[in-house]
Amino acid sequence: MKNTLDYISANKGRYLEELLDLLKIPSVSADPAYKEYLVQTAEFVKDKLIAAGADRAEIYPTPGHPIVYGEKLIDPALPTVMVYGHYDVQPADPLDLWDSPPFEPVIKKTALHPDGAIFARGACDDKGQFYMHVKAFEAMLANNELTCNVKFMIEGEEEVGSDNLEGFCRANKEMLACDVILISDTSILSNDTPSITVGLRGLAYLEVEVTGPNRDLHSGVYGGAVANPINVLSKMIASLHDENNHITIPGFYDKVEELSEADRYAMNKAPFDKNAYKEDLEIAAVYGEKGFTTLDRTSIRPTLDVNGMWGGYIGEGAKTVLPSKAFAKISMRLVPHQNSHEITSLFAEHFKRIAPEGVKVEVKPHHGGEPVVVPSDLKEYQAAHNAMAEAFGKEPIPMRSGGSIPIVALFEEVLEVKSILLGFGLDSDSIHSPNEHYGLFNYYKGIETIPLFYKHYAQLKSQ
Ligand code: BES
Ligand code: MN
Ligand code: MN
Repeated sequence: MKNTLDYISANKGRYLEELLDLLKIPSVSADPAYKEYLVQTAEFVKDKLIAAGADRAEIYPTPGHPIVYGEKLIDPALPTVMVYGHYDVQPADPLDLWDSPPFEPVIKKTALHPDGAIFARGACDDKGQFYMHVKAFEAMLANNELTCNVKFMIEGEEEVGSDNLEGFCRANKEMLACDVILISDTSILSNDTPSITVGLRGLAYLEVEVTGPNRDLHSGVYGGAVANPINVLSKMIASLHDENNHITIPGFYDKVEELSEADRYAMNKAPFDKNAYKEDLEIAAVYGEKGFTTLDRTSIRPTLDVNGMWGGYIGEGAKTVLPSKAFAKISMRLVPHQNSHEITSLFAEHFKRIAPEGVKVEVKPHHGGEPVVVPSDLKEYQAAHNAMAEAFGKEPIPMRSGGSIPIVALFEEVLEVKSILLGFGLDSDSIHSPNEHYGLFNYYKGIETIPLFYKHYAQLKSQ
C-alpha cells in the first residue's frame, strides 16, 4: 500500500481543506430551521464521492433528511465493504461556551493533541470521521490499490434517532448487500493506545410530564396544601437510584448480562488513569454504581440519567408560583440482553406506580435502540485488528463503549451484516459539547488505517 500511503501524505493539505469546508455547513438535524443546510451537506458528500471515483452517488430523499448512497463495484469476486456514517450534527448550543464559532473551524493545539485539533461542531462526530473514508477511498482508487468493492451510506438523521434509515434499508436490501459495514463514529483509548470498539450500549429515551393542579397557583395561598409537581418529580427521580446507586425499577437488571470475573478483569486491564479523568472533568471524585469500576460503569452496566428537567418560573428575579406542571427527559443506557421497549415499559409502569395521588403522570417514549456486541472471532474484526496494529505499531485493545449507535443493531437485523466499529476520536474530544474537536493526528491516522483494513480484509477473505 506504499503508493496509497504516499498519495495520502502528498495530499494532506487538500484533505484537510475539504474537511474544513464540510464543517462550515451547519447540518443540525434536530432543528427544522437548518433543513436546507442538510440538503447542502448531502450534495457536498455526493459530489465528493463522485470526485473520489465512485461509479455513482445519489441523494435519496426521505420524509426527514436525505441519505447519500454511493458505490464503486470493481469485481463481484471481491468482498464488499459498506461504509456507514452520518453527516448531521448535534445542535451547537450553548453558543456562548464556545471559544470560537462552531461552524467556523479553527485549528488549535491541546494537551492531548499537540499536533493540533480542528475545533468545530461535527469535527469528530461524525464529519471528520466519515470523511476519512471518502479520502482513503480516493487514495486507494487513485493508486489502483482498492482491494474490495465499496458502498457508502451516509445519513443525515443519526443524531435524531435515524428514523428513516430502517425503512431505507428494508426497501433497498439488494443495493445495500455487503459483507461488512465499516463505521468510524467511536473512540480510541488514546493516541498511543489504539483500541477497537466491540460493544455499544442500547438506549431508551423518554420524557415524563407530571401535572398537579390545573393551573399555576400562588405559592403562598396554595403552597403546602397542593402537590407541587416539581417537588414530586424531584422526589420520584431521586428514588430511581438507591444508596448504592443501583436503579430501583423492578425488573430493570433481570436480563443484564453478567460478565465473568475473568472477562471483567481483562476489560479493566485497559489503561485508564482515574486521576487524569477527574482532572479533565474538574471533579473531586468519580461516582456511580457500587461494586463497579469507572470502566465497568461506562461500558457493561446500564444507567438512568436525567438529561433535562424544567417547569415553573425560570426567568429573571423571583416569582412566587406553584407550578401546574413539571417535566424531565430521561435516558437509560442499556447493555446486552436488555431490550429498549421492555425497559421503557418497566420504567413507565414503575413511574406511574410511585406517583402520589395528587398528581397525574405521563410517560412519552422518544427514540431507542438495542445494544451491540462485536464478536472478536470474526474475520472482519481480525482485519480491523491487523489494520490498527500495522498503523499504530501496537496491538489494539478491544473495548466496549458507553455510547449508542442504534442503527447498528438494525443493520444486523435487517441487512444481516455485522458492523466493525473502527473509530478514531478521543472520549475527551467534547462531542455533543461546546468546543468539539478532532485531532489532526486522528484524522490522518484514520485515513492511513482504512486502506490497511481493506488490504487485510481482502487477504483474510481469500484464504
Ligand atoms: N457517535 C455517537 C455515539 C458514540 C460516541 C459511540 C462515542 C461511542 C463513542 C453518536 O453520534 C451518538 O451521539 N449517539 C447518540 C444516540 C442517538 C440516538 C442520538 C448517543 O449515544 O447519545
Ligand atoms: Mn456519531
Ligand atoms: Mn452524536
